[in-house]
Amino acid sequence: MRTVFLKGRGDFTEWRDAARALLQADVEPQAVDWRLAGEATLLEGAGEPQPMPAPSVAAAGKAVAVPAAFLALAQSVVCHTQPARFALLYRLLFRLRHERQLLEIVSDADVIEALKLEKSVRRDSHKMKAFVRFKEVPGEKGPRRSFVAWFEPDHFIVARTAPFFARRFADMDWLIATPKGSAAFNAEGLVVSDQPAEKLDRQDVADDLWRVYYANIFNPARLKVKAMTAEMPKKYWKNLPEASLIPGLIAQAEEKVKEMAEKAASQPPLFHARLRERAATALLSDLPLNAPAPTLAGLRRQAECCTRCPLHCKATQTVFGEGPDRADIMVVGEQPGDQEDLAGRAFVGPAGKLFDGVLSEIGIDRQALYVTNAVKHFKYEPRGKRRIHQKPNQGEIEACRWWLGQEVDLVQPKLVVAMGASAYFSLTGEKRPLSEVRGKMMSIGEDRRLLVTVHPSYLLRLQDGEVQRRERQLFQNDLRGVIEYFM
Ligand code: URA
Repeated sequence: MRTVFLKGRGDFTEWRDAARALLQADVEPQAVDWRLAGEATLLEGAGEPQPMPAPSVAAAGKAVAVPAAFLALAQSVVCHTQPARFALLYRLLFRLRHERQLLEIVSDADVIEALKLEKSVRRDSHKMKAFVRFKEVPGEKGPRRSFVAWFEPDHFIVARTAPFFARRFADMDWLIATPKGSAAFNAEGLVVSDQPAEKLDRQDVADDLWRVYYANIFNPARLKVKAMTAEMPKKYWKNLPEASLIPGLIAQAEEKVKEMAEKAASQPPLFHARLRERAATALLSDLPLNAPAPTLAGLRRQAECCTRCPLHCKATQTVFGEGPDRADIMVVGEQPGDQEDLAGRAFVGPAGKLFDGVLSEIGIDRQALYVTNAVKHFKYEPRGKRRIHQKPNQGEIEACRWWLGQEVDLVQPKLVVAMGASAYFSLTGEKRPLSEVRGKMMSIGEDRRLLVTVHPSYLLRLQDGEVQRRERQLFQNDLRGVIEYFM
């Protein structure tokens, strides 16, 4: 019997070197006693390292070829704490020489056992990724802050899991200490040790933040205690700041769900109430809701109840076009902005002011124009108290094209001015770079022309004063095309 001593702390190369030497010397698995360093041998003597056997004549100088799947499996299995893992892996390795498809025999007892150990290591690594909670170490405020975490894995998984943390938390210095080794990371890189670390017991303000965060994302209506404790086993709780909340949250869950149900029933979303109110007044006035209204005023009332795309849910109201019922010139923008959404009128905010300024500089009376938008609801993302404008997507523009088509049919403009790419797409169904179509007089329909220019918001976004002045001049020139067309 040959005894092999290993440190056995998840280091694959340690086992591989020993296994390779044994295999090359044709040593049968049952003739090897795999032990941890310092452990007693089968013969009860204290372990002493023994020299590895010399390779057999046939094997001398030959590399041991093993399937890649075995290497991956072995790299996981050596991280397990099960003492028999080294013998199991050597048995598999030895058999693979003559049973090349061995790993595919899922009913084989050795394969079953190896896969079981591999799964348990994988799960442990997954839990480490999910349950490590860093705590800040107060110190000098440099560009990199320092954090420590204490974690108690079941297996020797620190080395294989640490690269995940190095990628995820590359901008901070950290140490993850565990009873099965530790990993430290700073600007110079990652260092892993297999030495057991002393327990760290730190509290910090981030613990309170975790608790607030957890209490907020906890959804009592989706609570499944069994699934939750399977995903977050109790043995991890002692190192999770949020775990102290769990029993209370579970106990209150039923009550909270009842409260939520009652609230939900008595408070429909705001836009439902708004739509109901508007639909009711439309019905009272005999406005048809399933066919286009024959007048602009009717169409405007119909559009107030529009739910063709989800933008109506967050917007305050529909912002419909404005101007004479019959106008020679129709101007189409993109969509209402924050101020237009609140006022219910197109082009009254900063872009509208710029537009008005340019019109008056070239002598066009806005009152003579019919001014509308490709999309009739404001699209935005809330950020604190502000609502940040978002560009409408193609689906939203397409959903709203119906309204613009009705407006064009009723207003019968001779010239339509598209300000920006969204307006051009809505009017033509074509997506082309603005630079290709800008400033040109094109035909849309028999007696109708289309002139394309930039959107005034584009001018507002320009930072450089000189560029802004030049672009404003070009915008003016484009709009002069309107006057020239009617001369
Ligand atoms: N931008 C537009 O496209 N339309 C408006 O009504 C306001 C800003």
